[in-house]
Amino acid sequence: MSDSNLKDKIDLNRLPKHIATIMDGNGRWAKSKGKVRVFGHKNGVKAVREITEGCAELGVPYLTLYAFSTENWQRPKLEVNALMSLLVNTIESEIKTLQDNNIKLQAIGDISKLPEKTRNSLLRGIEDTRNNTRMTLILALNYSSRWELTQGMQRIAEKVSRDELKPADINEHVISEHLATQGIPDPELMIRTSGELRISNYLLWQLAYAELYFTEVLWPDFRKENLYQAILDFQGRERRFGKTGEQVVS
Ligand code: FPP
Repeated sequence: MSDSNLKDKIDLNRLPKHIATIMDGNGRWAKSKGKVRVFGHKNGVKAVREITEGCAELGVPYLTLYAFSTENWQRPKLEVNALMSLLVNTIESEIKTLQDNNIKLQAIGDISKLPEKTRNSLLRGIEDTRNNTRMTLILALNYSSRWELTQGMQRIAEKVSRDELKPADINEHVISEHLATQGIPDPELMIRTSGELRISNYLLWQLAYAELYFTEVLWPDFRKENLYQAILDFQGRERRFGKTGEQVVS
């Protein structure tokens, strides 16, 4: 089926407000072509453009991409360095497109531990696009959910110890407000490519009610058509939030 046919089937009134993605399979894609892993990451940038453009065109307000996890530091130094350079180059080359399309860049993760060059270009991108309103593109960088929950709990505990917060007043809203995603609605759809069926320490709190969509497509091959398929799948599901099917229908 062509892109436009799939796109036309999407109900624009029932779009997920936030899509979160685990971009997986770059290494395998490169290997299948007899190339080094970094070649896969470079080609993954095209898929980043496709999903961002696809979400902006449809009107999905928030898109989060898992670009680098706290565990990814364990990869060979050469690959880590190449990923960091790729991030700098991509942010710098795409900033004009983000501006032209009124897209705001944000980041979640322990940015302070990124190499200075990567951190600076990221912070510049965030600053330059901060007034954009059409869509928010969030990069999860040096991010992991357990890191995020740990630092959130530490900040809550500090407030309790300073008598600024009572333990009995800690509720779901308070916890959400102490996470890196403060102010961002929870993802309603999580897409993971490459056939892996895991959440991998990604937005564990925020994905509580998300629909999970797994596809065999390797990230560098991911195109708008694959995004449309995921959204159509999402729209075909009954989201019950703990209620019965009958309650949801009525
Ligand atoms: C996972 O594939 C992918 C990554 C760890 C990096 C993703 C980064 C990009 C696509 C670069 C550009 C991103 C932005 C947002 C500017 P993998 O290496 O784990 O693949 P494998 O499982 O096949 O080995």
